Formats: sequence, C-alpha cells, structure tokens
Amino acid sequence: MDIEELIGALDLPSKVRLLAGADMWSLPAMPEIGLRRLVMSDGPIGVRGEQWSTADPSIALPSPTALAATWDTGLVRRAGRLLAQEARRKGVHVLLAPTLNIQRSPLAGRHFECFSEDPLLTGEIGAAYVEGVQDGGVAATPKHFVANDFETERLTADVVVCDKALREVYLAPFERMVRAGAWGVMAAYNATNGTTMTEHAELLLGVLKGEWGFDGFVVSDWTATRSTEATALAGLDVAMPGPYGPWGDRLVEAVRSGRVPEHVVDDKVRRVLRLACRTGALGGPAPRPLPDPIDGTALAREVAARSFTLLRNEGGLLPLRGLRSVALIGAGAAQVRAMGGGSAEVFPDKVVSPLDGLRRRGEFDVRYAVGTDPRVRLEPLATPSRAVFLDKAGVVLAGLPLRTAEARWLGEPPSGVDLAGVAAVEIRTTFTPEAEGPHQFSISGAGAFTMSVDGHTVLDEVIVPPEGDPAAAFLAPPERRIVVELAAGAPVELTVRHATSALSGMVFIAFALGHAAPSPDDETLLAEAAGIAAGADVAIVVAGTTKETESEGFDRASLALPGRQDELIARVAAANPRTIVVLNAGSPVEMPWLDQVAAVLLAWFPGQEAGDALADVLFGDAEPGGRLPTTWPMRAQDVPVLDVTPVEGKIRYDEGVLVGYRAWEHAGSVPAFWFGHGLGYTTWSYDSVAATRTAGGVTDGATVTVAVTNTGDRAGREVVQVYLSPLVPGDAPASGGTAAREGTDGPSESTDVPSDVTDGPLVSTDGPSDRSAGGRPARWLAGFDVVTAEPGTTVLTTISLPERAFQVWDQGCWRTVPGDYTVEIGRSVADRRLAATLRVTV
Ligand code: BGC
Repeated sequence: MDIEELIGALDLPSKVRLLAGADMWSLPAMPEIGLRRLVMSDGPIGVRGEQWSTADPSIALPSPTALAATWDTGLVRRAGRLLAQEARRKGVHVLLAPTLNIQRSPLAGRHFECFSEDPLLTGEIGAAYVEGVQDGGVAATPKHFVANDFETERLTADVVVCDKALREVYLAPFERMVRAGAWGVMAAYNATNGTTMTEHAELLLGVLKGEWGFDGFVVSDWTATRSTEATALAGLDVAMPGPYGPWGDRLVEAVRSGRVPEHVVDDKVRRVLRLACRTGALGGPAPRPLPDPIDGTALAREVAARSFTLLRNEGGLLPLRGLRSVALIGAGAAQVRAMGGGSAEVFPDKVVSPLDGLRRRGEFDVRYAVGTDPRVRLEPLATPSRAVFLDKAGVVLAGLPLRTAEARWLGEPPSGVDLAGVAAVEIRTTFTPEAEGPHQFSISGAGAFTMSVDGHTVLDEVIVPPEGDPAAAFLAPPERRIVVELAAGAPVELTVRHATSALSGMVFIAFALGHAAPSPDDETLLAEAAGIAAGADVAIVVAGTTKETESEGFDRASLALPGRQDELIARVAAANPRTIVVLNAGSPVEMPWLDQVAAVLLAWFPGQEAGDALADVLFGDAEPGGRLPTTWPMRAQDVPVLDVTPVEGKIRYDEGVLVGYRAWEHAGSVPAFWFGHGLGYTTWSYDSVAATRTAGGVTDGATVTVAVTNTGDRAGREVVQVYLSPLVPGDAPASGGTAAREGTDGPSESTDVPSDVTDGPLVSTDGPSDRSAGGRPARWLAGFDVVTAEPGTTVLTTISLPERAFQVWDQGCWRTVPGDYTVEIGRSVADRRLAATLRVTV
C-alpha cells in the first residue's frame, strides 16, 4: 500500500475530513482509497466499545495502579494482549490507553488510572502494556501528554514546571513509550508553561515528533482542540470527537488562504493512514479475532491476586487456615467497587463480590453485615429493566432490554434504534420489594425528568447540572430522591421518563433509577457489625472510596475513608483482634486504625473477578503479589506534595523532581508505608549483589546481578528493586573526589548493609536536603525484576539499569553524571538489604 499515492489521490476537503471524528469515536471511512472506519475506544482496564452501555459488556481488569503494583512486565504484556483481543472482538482499532500521568498528589481524582509516582516504573509498565496491545494489532494511545496529573480546572489549568522536572519525571514515561513503538499519543486538555497542550508545538513537534522521532498519530483529548491554525501547526493530527469542531471547513479555508501549508495537512493524513495500515483498517480484509484466545476471566483473576498488596500481617494471620466462621463486613463486601469512575469505566457482564467469593469456598460459615454504607448516591436498581424510546405523541418507537435500571448512550445511539423523532426516553421496570417499609428511589442525571410508581407521578423536575466541566453531567450527576412506602412481595411498576430534544448528532443519554431498601439507622448497623465480628473466628472488613471520591472530572477533598468507615473498622477491631481490613480503593487513604487491626490487604479497584481473587489470596491459594507503586501516607497533612488546586489558573510544580518517595525522603517525613513495600507469604534472604558498568549504551548503563533465597516453607514471588544514590551528594562532579579519579569503571564490591527491615524511616547520613542539592533526589529507582523460587532455593537475577538512570537533564540535553554511586537492592525504598559501589566515568 503506497501511502504517498493515496494522499495524492485525495482532494483537500477529503484529507481534512480524515482528520476529525466522523462521530464520537471514529474517523470516517473512505472507500475510494480502501479505508474503513477507524474506531477508537477507552481504556484502560477494558475495551468499552462505541456504546457507553451495559448492553455491550467488556472484560474489566483491575485498575492501572493495581497493574503497576504487580511490577511484572510479562503479566502486563499478557493483559495488553487480552485488551487487543477485546478490541478486535468489538471492531476497535485504537485503544485510548494507557494513562501515563504521574501520581504527583494522592488527591488527584484519576490517581487510580495512573501507574505510579515513579517515572521509571510508570514507563516500564506502560511500555509492556503498549507492546501487549499492539502485538495484537491494535493501537495503544498513551495519554494525557503531558502534566495532566490532577482534575481541578483540568480543561484550562496551566502547569508551571521546570524543564528538568518535565523531562526527568513527566515526559520520561512518554519517551519510553515512543521507544516501545507506540502508534498513538493523546494530547491533554491542560496547558504546560503557558501553552495548551493541543497547541504545544515545542512539545508535540519539537520533542515528541522531532527529537524522539515519533511516527504515530497525535489525537486530541475529547474536545481539547479549541483553535484551527494553532493546533494544526503545532503537530496535532486528529481532532476528536467530530464532525463539528474547529477543523473541518475552517481548516480547509486556513489551507486555501495560505495560513496552514498543505504539506502540514499531508503529514497528518500520512500518520492517519499509517495508523490504518498498522491496525488493519486500510485495504485487505477487515481484522479478524486474534488466534489463541486468552481466557479473560482467568487473567482478570490472576492479575487481581498478583496486584493485591499486603501492607500488614501481624502474627502471620494471613493466609487463613482452619476457620469455622467468618464475619464479612462492609458495603464493598456485597457490592465491590470494581473500577474507578469516568471515561475509564467499562461494563463487565458480571462482578464477583467478596461475599460471593467467600461463600463459594463453602468451607466455613460466612455471616455478612453492612456496618455502614459510605455511598452518597443510590446505586441503580438491580432489576432487569427496559429502555423505551417515544415520540412526541407518546408512541413507542423502540425498546431495549437493560441489565439494571441505568440508561447510558454517549456518542453513539443504541444499536438498531433510529433516534430521529425521539422526544423522550424511559426506564421501565417491575420491582418486587423483599422488605416492607420506606424504600428510597432516586433519579440521577441532568435535564427534565418525571418518575412514576404504579402510574402515579412522584417526582417531576428539571435537574440542572453543576457548572464547570461539561462532562460533570455524567461523571458526577446530580440526584433527586423520594421515599415510597412499599409492602413486601407486592410488585410495583416504576418508570423514569427523560424528555429530550437534541438526539441528532452526538447522542448524550445518561440517567439512572436508584434504589435503597429500608435500613436500620447507622448506630444499629455498626453495633450489628461489631456483634457478628465478636462471634466469628476472623473479621474481614471491606472498606473503600466511593464514586463521589475517586473519579474523573474532580479531585479528592480528603484522604479519609468516606462516611463512618474508620469508626466501623475501629469497632470491629475492638470486638475481634483477628480483624483484616481489605482496602477497596484506587489510591491512598488514611488509616487511623492501622495499629488496631491484625492485617491490611490493599485490593485496589480489583476488576470483575474481585471476590474470587480475594478468596485465593486470603486462603493462600495465591500469594499477594503486589508492592506499592506509590508511597502511602499516614495522614494527608504529612504528604509533601498534596495540593491540586490551581491559583489564578496556574498550578506550580515547585517541588521539581522531588515527587513521591523522593519528596518524602527530602522532607525527612515518614509515611505509613514506603514505595515498594508489600509482604508475601514466604521469607527471603538477600545474599549478594554485583554491579558492573556497561558504559555508554543508550539502553544499558549498568547490570546488577542479585542472588536471593526463599527461606520460607512455600514457593514465593519477590520483587527485587534496585535503587541508585550518588555517593557524593549533588549533581556536579565532586571536586577532588571520586569522579576526578582516573580509571575505568571498576568492579563493584558487595557489602551487606544493615537493613531497616520494618520499613522505617530512610537513613541518610548527611541529611536528605543536602543529598538532594544539585537537583538530584537522595535515591531513585533504577531497575527491578520479579523472581520466583521454591522453598530453600536461591535464584540469580540480572537487572539492566538504563543509562538514563545515571543522567540528568541539564541545559537542554541529557548528561551522564560521573562519580561513585551506591547501588542498593531492596524490598522497598526503605528496606534495603544489599549495597555495592559503582564508579561511573564518562
Ligand atoms: C478523557 C480521556 C478519554 C476521553 C474519551 C476524556 O474526558 O480525559 O482519557 O480517553 O475523554 O472518553
């Protein structure tokens, strides 16, 4: 397929038409050149497809932070391949993922969607994800380029960040992605150093396409293209969604009047056609399902168990053995939060709750109590329902089954439904109450609604969405509630009608009928939970964040567990010393009860197989494989970099490269759990390390060989982490010191260092602030590997450290910093077991 010939065959309007969405999710087909529709879809934990609807289910993997918590690039590559398989099944060519922004502050609303606070770990996990997806012939689109690390005023905020931090922390994972061969990149909403990212010629054209040689396509975040010439000239290739927007006719006119050279348009078309070739949308037969299908359910379960991170395990309570009874407590135990909110949401065809997972084992008695429910909005009524489409006269034009009482179509109309002439959409359902008493019902959504119960109108209101982010109408929809007295066993007919006019063009239908059964007051629920805990062999509390606290479109206001969950945990722990807290959260939460509970298992947003994976880990069929990709604070006020609120439109990244554990160490503060921490079910000795400089290469700066032994009595998995720190503080070559000495990079010595096994504070002889002088952190992650070993077995691993680990961004270029480095091998950034010295000359 000669792309240049195809470009030559298209006139200007056709070329420009190819550069903007034909609709919400696709670029137009052009049969005259053999081009099919190029379909895009979110990402990152599944493939939602063109419909934002439960009618089009997808496998839901654990949240991206959980994926990173495995530290296992092989596993992530398999997850990527599964996503490609899902994409092919749904006719999707481009997956809008992975999210490569940095977990700079735990308040960030989309923290759960990012991999890590560390640029190297983000880059390595991201590269494996990209390789896995693209190996299946589907494009990955690392996003959001760049510095989109918070949500407040996300469409307009201007990030003020120095070049050094931009290069070493925020751009580094994207640069890694280009080396991994990514076929797409998404330009973010925000501005960086005064220029909005879709117009950022310096970063899009200069760095991404120029310096790094990126040959893929750059797509705007949805509606982030807000100008014609400036975006077209800056290196943006595709404006989504479409067809409305500032390109189209306006771009044709800009070319005709000479304001945008035609070769600029040709380059964009070239990139789109290259993408089409790569993903099978140009010429030849349409892509077929991938051979050797992966079992999505099994992989979702495996990834979840491997991501679960055991933070605390007093007296080796886990894995559980020989139980007769379990008290399972918490709203999340019955309705687990499988994923974070916003565009990252997909609709799996089932979610296994912890209650299902534990009951399925059938070996012991499980008693359940909710304890307290932290959710602010009611969940959609879980009865099968119907969506009914009516015209102005109330005539039914179409009807579709819904799995629950939730109607959602964003962008694309429901398949088989012609929306022309539709004046209202209804959710209809028959509900048979189990309990007698006051049932709460809600409408959540924005616009004109009426609700009726057995034909009587009980709510009639125009609900106005909050001002600000236009996506808020579905990301955080307003809710109206009513209470209806119902008799047990007597069915009622419920209808929510949503009057709508603009159903042509881009479809936006998003509303739900919520429900909560009659419930005792909180005091009674808390007492009941403590009561069942007291009478059981072990108490497991599933606690976590809610849709209102972790989602796209807004940041978190606090790190506290919402509602009365802290109190619930404290009361359960007081009733039963064998209390295990399972945290169902995408990002850090405060744990004021930490010392009172026996174990804390971080389950993240665990995806659709949550409950089975949890049972696997609690009972020791699988080891909790996770290690923290982010430092977990004890209290929000201890977090060195917390603020996510722009001031007069600007947010300053004044901490420079001191993000995450680097900032904690610099501040001399001690978190609850350090980056890299996580316990398994066996024990390890760290036996020896040897480090050798492999000078000068772009991808290889050193190799480190480590021997570790499984000293426990079961097979296990260990994440071996390599940290570098300059022996002489500061960035500059030390005057008269090691760097000035003659000689080649000498062999390393292996020394046993006293280990602060309990993950205590980092020990730094000359004080963290001095060691960070000259623009380098005291210590940084430089490499890692996952090893497995049978009991009593020693394994050797050789880990490559990239040259970049020894470099800083200095006055416009990368510079290797010579000198002596300490290479430390640890189980976390604070629990370092071995050290060697490595001399670097240039
Ligand atoms: C999000 C992107 C997403 C896009 C399409 C935007 O609001 O920031 O991550 O890919 O919507 O859903």
